[in-house]
Amino acid sequence: MADDARLDGKVALITGAAGEIGSATMRLFAARGARIVAVDRDEAQLKNAVAKLPADAKALALTADVSNEDAVADYVSRAVDAAGTIDVFYNNAGIEGDVAPIQNYSLEAFRRVLDVNVVGVFLGMKHVLPVMLKRGSGSIVNTASIAGLIGSPHIAVYSASKHAVIGLTKSVAMECSGTGIRVNCVCPGLIQSRMLSSIIDGRTPGARADADAIVNRIPARRLGGAAEVAQVVAFLASDAASYVSGAAYTVDGARTAG
Ligand SMILES: NC(=O)c1ccc[n+]([C@@H]2O[C@H](COP(=O)([O-])OP(=O)(O)OC[C@H]3O[C@@H](n4cnc5c(N)ncnc54)[C@H](O)[C@@H]3O)[C@@H](O)[C@H]2O)c1
Repeated sequence: MADDARLDGKVALITGAAGEIGSATMRLFAARGARIVAVDRDEAQLKNAVAKLPADAKALALTADVSNEDAVADYVSRAVDAAGTIDVFYNNAGIEGDVAPIQNYSLEAFRRVLDVNVVGVFLGMKHVLPVMLKRGSGSIVNTASIAGLIGSPHIAVYSASKHAVIGLTKSVAMECSGTGIRVNCVCPGLIQSRMLSSIIDGRTPGARADADAIVNRIPARRLGGAAEVAQVVAFLASDAASYVSGAAYTVDGARTAG
């Protein structure tokens, strides 16, 4: 019997592929048989991440800023030119932005977070969907966050942006009714990563106690790993999730369960 969790023969486009969650997901997609098109604005880190894939993995690296519409149109058309189509789109690039109370937040910094986290996710879906609609199949997974479900002090715009990603996901899933395309998002919790360290340091510089208090609020009593997020993304990307659309999957050790 075929294993529906496998991604053999599928073309998977991943943004933010040089980052911790993006690169862990890229490795899992490749291990499950997908052909990879990896996008990131950081060319050096992207090359590094793609170089760590197994030697037999098929991967193309494209440098692009997801908040620029011409760049998005370009990465989508280069992906189709190189790989023929896009079966899976992991729309994952994101930034935490500045970490500061709202009265100290500059408008420029506020707009930058919305530009990457909301406009970038919107543009990705806008340009990938026509490719999937032509074939009548596809799976889109956006990266939201538990900050899209609950408030997060000192990263209010990040939280607002991730609430927006969940709204975009649910609405586009409904727009895709009857097309064969599924649209979901993943809501990682506190994942051991550069981004989490940056948020903790920004809230209380150098405060180890703050990090401990954060872990104590997680019922699983530990931080998550990027590879644990990747497992859920790979499921949503695959045919094993054939009846899953419009969902926001938490991967948070029950942090938001209460
Ligand atoms: N790390 C966490 O604890 C956590 C928790 C919840 C959600 N998330 C979300 O997961 C996603 C990945 O986060 P991560 O932890 O891997 O962070 P990361 O900083 O390691 O990776 C993000 C990647 O996105 C890229 N990127 C940023 N802006 C871009 C742009 N304009 N165009 C193209 N690429 C761009 C960066 O270069 C980087 O490689 C983000 O959307 C983030 O908000 C992370």
